[in-house]
Amino acid sequence: MSLLFVNACMRENSRTERLARMVLQGRMQNAVQDVVELRISDLDMRPLDQELLAAYSASVSQAKYDHPMFAYAKQFAEANSILIAAPFWNFSIPAKLHDYLELVCSQGITFDVDSSGAYVSLCKAKSLVFVCTSGGVIGEATDDHAFGYVRTLARQFWHISQVECVMAQGLDAPGANVEALLEAASRA
Ligand SMILES: Cc1cc2nc3c(=O)[nH]c(=O)nc-3n(C[C@H](O)[C@H](O)[C@H](O)COP(=O)(O)O)c2cc1C
Repeated sequence: MSLLFVNACMRENSRTERLARMVLQGRMQNAVQDVVELRISDLDMRPLDQELLAAYSASVSQAKYDHPMFAYAKQFAEANSILIAAPFWNFSIPAKLHDYLELVCSQGITFDVDSSGAYVSLCKAKSLVFVCTSGGVIGEATDDHAFGYVRTLARQFWHISQVECVMAQGLDAPGANVEALLEAASRA
């Protein structure tokens, strides 16, 4: 698989999705011949609860990954590049994208831990782009729970060397020129 497009846009006519498609057709056009799109909103996904965590832990300790919960991690590990698109929600990402990333972070599939305790990547991807839009303008003093979270996973677990954020802010401000903001973000 060449490029995995993790589409966590939840709204019809999502501006984030529009920005993501501009990025795909612009700077990522060399990779778009082979794009697999995963619509997070459509996934019938169960986050790790007591029962599923027990199954997860048993699978990891036996290195047996046939449970369906591991399908997302297996797909992610095989991608050559990753595009994640998500709206900025409550200073973070939509909960369903968090659920998905929790399953992607399956030890033994997308990363492992060596005998010294260091993380070892099991992912093929060398680049990850995170596309986001926000209603307001996010101040410097705000902790970054959106791109910052994704970037930490990408660097620490998956050792992805090229991690980039494309973000358009202030889309819900009165009188905002949404098209111009998206256009500028896609070219930045
Ligand atoms: C549930 C929810 C939470 C939001 N939280 C924030 C927020 O914390 N900060 C902000 O600036 N905008 C927030 N917004 C506004 C969205 O980030 C903004 O409208 C964004 O452009 C939506 O993207 P979309 O058009 O792809 O759905 C929120 C919107 C929703 C629906």
